[in-house]
Amino acid sequence: MAETVQVPNYAYGLGLLAFPLGLFVYSKVFPSHAKKINRKFTAWMCSKMMPRVHAKCIPQKKALFQSFDLLYDSKPLEVLEIGVGPGSNLDFLPAGCNLSCLEPNLENQPYVEQALKDCPDVHFSRFVKGFAEDMREFDDNTFDAVILTFTLCSVRHLQKALSEIKRVLKSVSFEILNHLDKHILM
Ligand SMILES: C[S@@+](CC[C@H](N)C(=O)[O-])C[C@H]1O[C@@H](n2cnc3c(N)ncnc32)[C@H](O)[C@@H]1O
Repeated sequence: MAETVQVPNYAYGLGLLAFPLGLFVYSKVFPSHAKKINRKFTAWMCSKMMPRVHAKCIPQKKALFQSFDLLYDSKPLEVLEIGVGPGSNLDFLPAGCNLSCLEPNLENQPYVEQALKDCPDVHFSRFVKGFAEDMREFDDNTFDAVILTFTLCSVRHLQKALSEIKRVLKSVSFEILNHLDKHILM
């Protein structure tokens, strides 16, 4: 006759804890590998989520990017995108512009390269690893426009980032698309 084994309640709790605990132990034992996996996963998540977010704010983006027309006395237009992510704004850039990208997570680069294939009129200049707070890779007065979308919320030192943006811009005018109005997301 089959014997019934009573599993103690705490065993289920331990089972549920095993996965996050395993991840935690893995991140302590192999920290650099765990960080790489995290960066890859974050870039992949961003590439899946951001197109949906951007699709909800096309009218706002069209209005923002229209202001690029005002900058056309200098050609080609030099554009820097900070926190470029998967390259959700490339479609909106004016034809013929030179694009530089600043991004702390280099795992986003393949997504940007892929997106650039659909935008042959955008000339890719460089992809720099770095943060908005410290853009020493870029000289003063380099760019006609700086773009940040859904990135300022990740910036830890806002004042530093804004003064760096001011430094690299040829002349200052800000247009920021950050947190979405809840009505846009619905
Ligand atoms: C929510 S994603 C937005 C990506 C893209 N701008 C878009 O609209 O699809 C935020 C991006 O900002 C980057 N990021 C985070 N902190 C940053 C910082 N201090 N400076 C520059 N970029 C940063 C992240 O790596 C990520 O790619």
